[in-house]
Amino acid sequence: MTALNSIVLLTGAGISAESGIQTFRASDGLWANHAIEEVATPDAYARNPAKVLDFYNQRRTQLQDPQVAPNAAHLALAKFEQALTAQGGRFTLITQNVDNLHRRAGSQNLIAMHGELQSVFCPACGHRQTWVHDLNSTDLCPVCAESAPLRPDIVWFGEIPYQLDACQAAVEQADLFVSIGTSGQVYPAAGFVALAKSAGALTAELNLEPTRKDFDFCLYGPATQVVPAFFEQLMNQPTQLPSFCQ
Ligand code: OAD
Repeated sequence: MTALNSIVLLTGAGISAESGIQTFRASDGLWANHAIEEVATPDAYARNPAKVLDFYNQRRTQLQDPQVAPNAAHLALAKFEQALTAQGGRFTLITQNVDNLHRRAGSQNLIAMHGELQSVFCPACGHRQTWVHDLNSTDLCPVCAESAPLRPDIVWFGEIPYQLDACQAAVEQADLFVSIGTSGQVYPAAGFVALAKSAGALTAELNLEPTRKDFDFCLYGPATQVVPAFFEQLMNQPTQLPSFCQ
């Protein structure tokens, strides 16, 4: 087999769980205590902006907690990217996460397809800016000063994810597609594995538990264990998937 030169990853909330960030669909996850239609849709924001802003303000505040830091899985991906690109390989990390842990770990070629907590944008002129504190409905755009308030730079349900064309192009060119810590329930991200397979890539799932049946290889356990183990072995033997994959 030739080397796996072009590698695309899709990460979800599970990779950040051991950094202290709640997942969405666990029994004690975010969606157990907050209704999606009340905090994560354009309609919710139009109806009750304060409630929506409060939900994302809490998440943004959590990122300032010194206990919340990149874990061994985030760091392993950044290290692997550096090694692969130094050898001329292509690495794309697509994340559904809106935390900043992949960036803080040092990942470079990163697509935050569902947006980022520490960013806001102006719905009137599209200007984006870094935002680390609470966002209020009185905060206006510094560029156009339109009366429409700034909003979280988050892709809500019913909106189109960011850089979808770039995501799909990367997935279609992958030799290996790895899904990490995502339940695979939210499209279009959930469709990437089928796209990768139809384009001839090997596919693998690293997760706490099985999510679906369409991966070629699977490795189950906490992300801080399985992700470093998988990518260290791949770095040493770039022509095949680690032998401990099922
Ligand atoms: P989910 O909460 O749906 O799924 C998290 C996945 O991580 C599950 O499959 C868990 O088994 C797994 N998991 C939990 N802890 C883990 C650990 N320590 N190590 C490895 N895996 C672990 O989160 P996502 O799939 O990311 O979108 O959710 C996708 C999207 O749905 C989110 O981006 C968000 C949400 O609604 C929007 O808000 C638009």
